[in-house]
Amino acid sequence: MPMDRKKEIPYDERPDDGRGGKVVPMRLQKYLARAGVASRRASENLMTAGRVTVNGQVVSELGAKVDPLVDVVAVDGRQVYLEDRPVTLMLYKPEGVITTMKAQSARPIVADLVPVDRYPGLYPIGRLDADTTGLLLFSTDGQLGNRLLHPSCHVPKTYLAYLRDPLTTRGAEALRAGVELDDGPAQPAEVEFAGKGDRLVRITVREGRYHQVKRMFKAIGNRVLNLHRESFGSLVLGDLKPGEWRELVDDEVEALGHCKP
Ligand code: URA
Repeated sequence: MPMDRKKEIPYDERPDDGRGGKVVPMRLQKYLARAGVASRRASENLMTAGRVTVNGQVVSELGAKVDPLVDVVAVDGRQVYLEDRPVTLMLYKPEGVITTMKAQSARPIVADLVPVDRYPGLYPIGRLDADTTGLLLFSTDGQLGNRLLHPSCHVPKTYLAYLRDPLTTRGAEALRAGVELDDGPAQPAEVEFAGKGDRLVRITVREGRYHQVKRMFKAIGNRVLNLHRESFGSLVLGDLKPGEWRELVDDEVEALGHCKP
């Protein structure tokens, strides 16, 4: 059934979508997924079950398009809206998951764990190695990532590292002074023992170079066997379990955004 549409809006007059494009008509199931109703597949089921209306008419055809600027979409009689503000979230990255949004092999990737249907344009801010666990940020705000990853931003990132060999006093001092890496000296790190033994260490770095922490321990003749990121700036994982994510509240994003290189 053709949908009643009150007006057509020319492309030039459409607002930016905040992701480099304009707000344009889209398939209804995509709209529902982006509005956070359900995944695209589950949204299709809602449509075929006759639970979705557009401008008051039930729409069950999977090819139907809606204009977010004009059409009123409802599920079970309740209106749903598109998210139009930038979204930033933290994921507790589990072990064995690759930091990429595009699958290159059958290995699990972080894109499988975060709500990409609901927030298109979500991308990871920095990366954790596949065997590293812990706090990984994502955002739809490209500028936030650029700011936080800028070398002059110096956001402290704290890791728990479980080492092959005990950390020696001399090794700790070298890390605190700034060890030499093959792409230039590392900035001084904060280092302390994190458990009873001398192989579990908490280390805070303010850079984000490739394999940074592992290479720093290698430079003092040791080796990281397990690496976990506990915090990023003032953010900690809190009650999140491996594989879980949560959106940041405005104050948390604002606290991160104080870095302006
Ligand atoms: N440093 C590393 O060596 N690996 C990570 O995943 C993060 C920091």
